[in-house]
Amino acid sequence: MPASLTLDFLPFSARPNGVLIVFCDDGLKFGGAARVVLEPAGDLIKRAAEAERFKGKHGSTLEIVAPAGLAVPRLIVIGVGRVKDLKAESWVKLGGVAMGKIPPAATEATIIADLPGGAPKPERVADMAMGMRLRAYVFDRYKTKRKDDQTPAQHVKVGIAVSGVAAVQKAFASRDAIASGVLLARDLVNEPPNILFPDEFARRTNALKKFGVAVEILDVPAMKKLGMNALLGVGQGSQHESRMVVMRWNGGKKGLPPVAFIGKGVCFDTGGISIKPASGMEDMKGDMAGAACVVGLMQALAQRKAKVNAVGAIGLVENMPDGKAQRPGDIVTTMSGQTIEIINTDAEGRLVLADVLHYVNKRFKPKFMVNLATLTGAIIVALGHEYAGMFSNDDTLSERLTKAGQATGERVWRMPLGPEYDKKIDSKFADMKNTGGRDGGAITAAQLLARFVDKTPWAHLDIAGTGFASPQSDINKSWGSGYGVRLLDRLVADHYEK
Ligand code: BES
Ligand code: MN
Ligand code: ZN
Repeated sequence: MPASLTLDFLPFSARPNGVLIVFCDDGLKFGGAARVVLEPAGDLIKRAAEAERFKGKHGSTLEIVAPAGLAVPRLIVIGVGRVKDLKAESWVKLGGVAMGKIPPAATEATIIADLPGGAPKPERVADMAMGMRLRAYVFDRYKTKRKDDQTPAQHVKVGIAVSGVAAVQKAFASRDAIASGVLLARDLVNEPPNILFPDEFARRTNALKKFGVAVEILDVPAMKKLGMNALLGVGQGSQHESRMVVMRWNGGKKGLPPVAFIGKGVCFDTGGISIKPASGMEDMKGDMAGAACVVGLMQALAQRKAKVNAVGAIGLVENMPDGKAQRPGDIVTTMSGQTIEIINTDAEGRLVLADVLHYVNKRFKPKFMVNLATLTGAIIVALGHEYAGMFSNDDTLSERLTKAGQATGERVWRMPLGPEYDKKIDSKFADMKNTGGRDGGAITAAQLLARFVDKTPWAHLDIAGTGFASPQSDINKSWGSGYGVRLLDRLVADHYEK
């Protein structure tokens, strides 16, 4: 059974049902609506707070089971810290904290979205509700036995009491769309590679049609015709055929050049003939996290009817060793006409992206291109799992991405590009080679991509450290994180709509 979280917005006057959740500041003060409900409990909360040394610190919680005087099974007080320090992102997190505190067995809960000094803005309450959806996600479709102690609650109806229902509902519509996009991306990353091979991945993108997205799926003959030999070379050792999917959402002015998002979709990366060691190889089912993000983002933009023209393009392949597999030493001619000597078949993501970037640039002449890829282990060495590596030929785009990262918590850190790095991928036999050696490995990978984007403003996000197995947080308990959907949705919302 899938997780089913039901969210409803109610007026402050509604009677609370089930688990009661309220917020207080770092002076243990409550908003008026919460005070009314808590009144019959007298000084219970004050005494419990003293006993637990609860100070209302941001994100901290106080739980009282069967609180005397209140007709609820459990009271959860969530500290928000100093009210004037609260940002949009703080509310997303508070939603995650609230969701995480609802006990697994609970079927109903009520959150009183009030604060001392007045109810939070409708947008902030909607942010909180989005945080709840992000936290409530579990990927359990392959578990035939369920443990009862699984958190968070799996089948719970949450009423969020607010000061103006209509305004919150309106603000929530777009955030609901974004959350759905993130959860779709997580699902795709979490799926096992025997189920989610390139053609199956491509078929799943058809679901975006119901939101008004145009979906084109290109098969091997179509890509051969286009000359996408770098992408096809990666997939040629697999029993599963390669695919490219092009998604288009036209919510902006007719004829305006689109913004474009490109994703690496290596559904499984064994390394190919340059095979990877066995330990941890199962994680390489997530080597399509860039593509998953692009699909989740396109759905989010369409579902919230973003006023933008956007293209999403993903290259879907499986990198396998086989009698037909690509060899080290092979030279492929890309769609752009440039040739690449394969030194290491495990440096396959850049080969896929080289063709998809060129294709998108040539066909759509986009305003900018952002690609996402779990491209290199080297970026994990450099940045760990906290920031994605960002490489860009455009300062404005970089600054906008950096700001969007700070606002959403999906952070990026800009890395260098330059001719000194570029020359490390010059090849003895072809225009370039697909690896530049161990030193600066994330940078030389980016330099190869840069050779396929011409002058178009472009940013490459290396999400090897953030797309999966990234740190758990109040809003993410999933292996596949869905990283990038909120970041890029924010980039579009802040700069490219209307
Ligand atoms: N998909 C991997 C990169 C990766 C590693 C992503 C760990 C997530 C976690 C990529 O295709 C790869 O194998 N890169 C090689 C490149 C090398 C052969 C030049 C790497 O990083 O070791
Ligand atoms: Mn690889
Ligand atoms: Zn890979």
